[in-house]
Amino acid sequence: MNPCCRVLFIRRINSLLWVSPPKCHQYRNLNSSKTHLDFYQNRQFLKIQRGISGFRCVIDSNCAGFRMPSMGWIRSRVSTEVSIQREVSRILGVASNMRQYSTSVETRVNENNFERIYVQGGISVKPPVVERIDGDENVAKEEDGNNTNNPRAVEDKIDGLNEGILENLNDVEVSVSNKEESNLEKEAWRLLRSAVVSYCGSPVGTVAANDPGDKLPLNYDQVFIRDFVPSALAFLLKGEGEIVRNFLLHTLQLQSWEKTVDCYSPGQGLMPASFKVRTVALDENKVEEVLDPDFGESAIGRVAPVDSGLWWIIMLRAYGKITGDYSLQERVDVQTGIKLIMNLCLADGFDMFPSLLVTDGSCMIDRRMGIHGHPLEIQALFYTALRCSREMLSSNEGSKSLVRAINNRLSALSFHIREYYWVDMKKINEIYRYKTEEYSLDAINKFNIYPEQIPPWLMEWIPEDGGYLIGNLQPAHMDFRFFMLGNLWSVVSSLGTPKQNEGILNLIEAKWDDLVGHMPLKICFPALENETWRIITGSDPKNTPWSYHNGGSWPTLLWQFTLACIKMRRTELASKAVALAEKRLSADRWPEYYDTPSGKFIGKQSRLFQTWTIAGYLTSKMLLANPELASLLFWEEDYELLEICICALNSKGGRKKCSRGAARSQILV
Ligand code: GLC
Repeated sequence: MNPCCRVLFIRRINSLLWVSPPKCHQYRNLNSSKTHLDFYQNRQFLKIQRGISGFRCVIDSNCAGFRMPSMGWIRSRVSTEVSIQREVSRILGVASNMRQYSTSVETRVNENNFERIYVQGGISVKPPVVERIDGDENVAKEEDGNNTNNPRAVEDKIDGLNEGILENLNDVEVSVSNKEESNLEKEAWRLLRSAVVSYCGSPVGTVAANDPGDKLPLNYDQVFIRDFVPSALAFLLKGEGEIVRNFLLHTLQLQSWEKTVDCYSPGQGLMPASFKVRTVALDENKVEEVLDPDFGESAIGRVAPVDSGLWWIIMLRAYGKITGDYSLQERVDVQTGIKLIMNLCLADGFDMFPSLLVTDGSCMIDRRMGIHGHPLEIQALFYTALRCSREMLSSNEGSKSLVRAINNRLSALSFHIREYYWVDMKKINEIYRYKTEEYSLDAINKFNIYPEQIPPWLMEWIPEDGGYLIGNLQPAHMDFRFFMLGNLWSVVSSLGTPKQNEGILNLIEAKWDDLVGHMPLKICFPALENETWRIITGSDPKNTPWSYHNGGSWPTLLWQFTLACIKMRRTELASKAVALAEKRLSADRWPEYYDTPSGKFIGKQSRLFQTWTIAGYLTSKMLLANPELASLLFWEEDYELLEICICALNSKGGRKKCSRGAARSQILV
């Protein structure tokens, strides 16, 4: 083994999180509050040790299994250095067993960190995550008023919060319409429940697909962060918060502690694309469960899961809104998780725009599809996550500068998207007549777009009434493809102006045959064909024209369409789409996607029993039946943000002439 590989192998250990239990605890009824108590107490400990200790669950063949050890035991154990050292060598020993389970298992523990944390200081070492937050030069410069530097203070706070959490959890009650479920809904619920993944006896997520006939599931047997969103909402709307809470806390543990792709570690704060619960043999009688995250280091194409952290924040807010249990988002470790994601997104780089700069395939479309740069989907999720974070971050000295940064970014981002991404007939006509090569602050054609770029199909396609936000914007480049997810989230989050949001739904209605056809909804329109397909996808045989990401139809988009329609008071459109889906989903065995321009055929390589297809359908049905709950999941126009933007435009300070001055009209309602 060359030295680099050896280091990578050792570096892996602390991403498979575990703590050894002292004795066998019998499983209890999972719904009992005592089990909850054990579980959350242990999560709380792990929170203090975030990235320091590991996380595992041991199952003994002589007893049903272990819950996590009690907090008291862990505390006494970590207080003696000798036992800590023993634990370190034991863990290092176990690590060799792990190698056979996944090639990715070898890639990530930082030996130095490990020693620094376990041996040099044990629990009295300042949690490194908190250290990073307080010392962040980019955004969160100020001291955290909660004294997160002091682990003891953190523990005390956590103990207090714990009690509150448990009380709240018992109170959680969601009132949903009691309408009798149809047979189709019953089938969908049965399938969704059978996709649930357990870890240490608790539900923690749902697999991406649960197709018994699939002999090569690749990573579809993992829990994907983005795929779990509709599952989470379905469970929340049904009044079952536990799985969502567990998911949020477990993925928080996985958040980018030490991950590496070959010899490089991406930024702290990244959430994995997916994780798998693996069972590892300890000795003859015992096996243990470990969480094995994938940050893209095993993913096809090594794509970066930029959207995972954004979805995590969106889910966290939804959990609070629907269950009323706000204590989860108030926890110190959860607050830290939000800050880490925000810091990563808000870090300074070479960017000229307020939109987030990403590589290709960093979102739902997780393959090469020419969506590198500033794709709309990421911008819409980023905007939503910024709004969620601003709402959830505890207001104190420690979060003041971050909240300020969030506000500034929100207003700049919404201006940028509203002004430069929007196209309708009028705008296309403007672009058609653009002058080019303008050098000045008040250029009209700021991005130097050559009018020849307007694709011929668009001139025909754009309806008189309505418009949409384009897929991407870069210097001298507008990607005019219509991307569904980004447009729907712009409506849901109010990234678009109220008029633009209305225009987007008008366009979907006017172009129903193209965007809905036989199966809702088209992921993007139109497909890349011929030479463009060859150049842009790199001749990807999975993304052939009108298939998969390249113009395929994805039923999971139904719930986001439903949410957007409810927000814009166009529920009839959503009902029509749901009715279409209902005709085929069960008969077709809940496919992942459909092919052809009108979505007529089950996708060439489509998985069956795809969980987010099932959960998306259920969520749509429940949102339509309970529109008042839907209103907890969308955002209205934020007039304060507009104020900030208008102030910036009118500002006399700085440069003599604001380059945005000419463009005030779009951002105003
Ligand atoms: C495909 C999709 C991705 C999804 C994954 C699991 O890779 O492109 O968005 O998360 O499958 O379903």
